[in-house]
Amino acid sequence: MKIYSASISCRIEFSASHYYRVSGWSEEENERRFGKDSRHHGHNYRVEIMIQGKVNPETGMVMNVRDLKKTIKEVVEPLDHKNLNEEVPYFRTCLPTPENLACYFFEVLSLKIQSARMASVRVYETESLWAEYRGEAG
Ligand code: NI
Repeated sequence: MKIYSASISCRIEFSASHYYRVSGWSEEENERRFGKDSRHHGHNYRVEIMIQGKVNPETGMVMNVRDLKKTIKEVVEPLDHKNLNEEVPYFRTCLPTPENLACYFFEVLSLKIQSARMASVRVYETESLWAEYRGEAG
């Protein structure tokens, strides 16, 4: 029997606030570089998680979809209605940009999902702005 490799994707939304400020820069420099983004504001984020693996011939699934949804909720929900810069320890040392959020979700989910491979994480800050991380090093 042929074994297939496929991906399965899941979408989840959360709302959070952030600001872009580099602590070593003056207020004027931050305002000049980041404009309005240097001020505290919120977004409704959309996160798309894709995992890749062999389709289990018995279940027809790459991984148990209930487990997948549960794990994603466990990772994403703690950020909901948070000030990302101040209330999420990971973002004390890097700015909560869509790029860094995608890397964060990818790394945390990779540790929790053992039965399949993380393929990509996309983080949409708006309909027209998103970042994607596929696990590559810089
Ligand atoms: Ni923003």
